Amino acid sequence: MLLEVKNLRIAFRREGHETVPVRDVSFTVPQHGRVAVVGESGCGKSLTALSLLRLPPTDRAYISGTTTFTGKRISYVFQNPSDSLNPVMRISAQIREALPKGMSKAAAEALVVELLARTGLPDPKRAAHAYPCELSGGQQQRAMIAMALAAAPDLLVADDPTTALDVTTQKQVLELIDSLAAETGMAVLLITHNLGLVAGRMDEVNVMYAGQIVEAGPVLEVLANPRHPYTRGLLAAVPALDAPRDAPLADIPGTVPPPDQWPDGCAFAPRCAFADERCRAENPPVTVVGSVRHACFH
Ligand SMILES: Nc1ncnc2c1ncn2[C@@H]1O[C@H](COP(=O)(O)OP(=O)(O)OP(=O)(O)O)[C@@H](O)[C@H]1O
Ligand code: SF4
Ligand SMILES: [Mg+2]
Repeated sequence: MLLEVKNLRIAFRREGHETVPVRDVSFTVPQHGRVAVVGESGCGKSLTALSLLRLPPTDRAYISGTTTFTGKRISYVFQNPSDSLNPVMRISAQIREALPKGMSKAAAEALVVELLARTGLPDPKRAAHAYPCELSGGQQQRAMIAMALAAAPDLLVADDPTTALDVTTQKQVLELIDSLAAETGMAVLLITHNLGLVAGRMDEVNVMYAGQIVEAGPVLEVLANPRHPYTRGLLAAVPALDAPRDAPLADIPGTVPPPDQWPDGCAFAPRCAFADERCRAENPPVTVVGSVRHACFH
């Protein structure tokens, strides 16, 4: 196994009060695997992914559990490239930081242009000499993917890499990650709020709600037979191209509350049509059915 995360818990303490946005999360990524973590905003997806690189603020975040990584390097494509790229450094200088030390400047420059070209940027030389503000959102994300590739990673973590992009650019960026993964053999951990993006692209999916994985398994099985009401809600919310144009879009009522307001029992109960007394009193244990794990009493 390339990556194994076991019982990950991330807590924040402030003025004697503790919130736990990530609670007992376990998942694996095999060598060359394509694994997704899916859930709405505020479910703890980014914190989970950031913890792989020990990036949550260490002065406030209390992280426990075990993470075993058997590869050499993890690269991270951040959620919002315009916030993550350094605005006062040219793209080329930022990508060079990820290249092996000891290369001559000319060789490093040539490699930067080659990496940018691999991401499909039409004028990679211009992009190399540009500042981030001179690139569009899609171009910035491609530059960030070039930076990720510079480290020749065994695992690419792509944290909602398309949230800030229009639908056409979203598709291009995801196809770019797919093709680079196939070409280099790197494994991919894709974080997304859109369950529609994992079909045909990922092998395994972990559905996350309120800091916990509520359903996990092979994408084909989970999408064909979603067992958890939250997975069903996410799936119903993916618009179908062949649906009548005036059909209302399905949604999950309510929103994810902040971690300090997650209820006892099943955290999804306030939004779940099947919730009963037991759901409100006890946290459902994980049940294994074949290769699928889910946490729901019903
Ligand atoms: N540094 C922090 N201190 C305190 N709370 C935090 C911190 N970082 C994140 N949180 C809280 O943890 C919860 C999960 O945050 P996270 O960024 O992991 O969500 P997410 O699933 O990635 O959402 P999104 O889809 O919006 O990116 C949120 O409620 C957030 O407010
Ligand atoms: S345990 Fe109960 S509240 Fe939670 S998802 Fe299942 S049916 Fe809904
Ligand atoms: Mg996030």
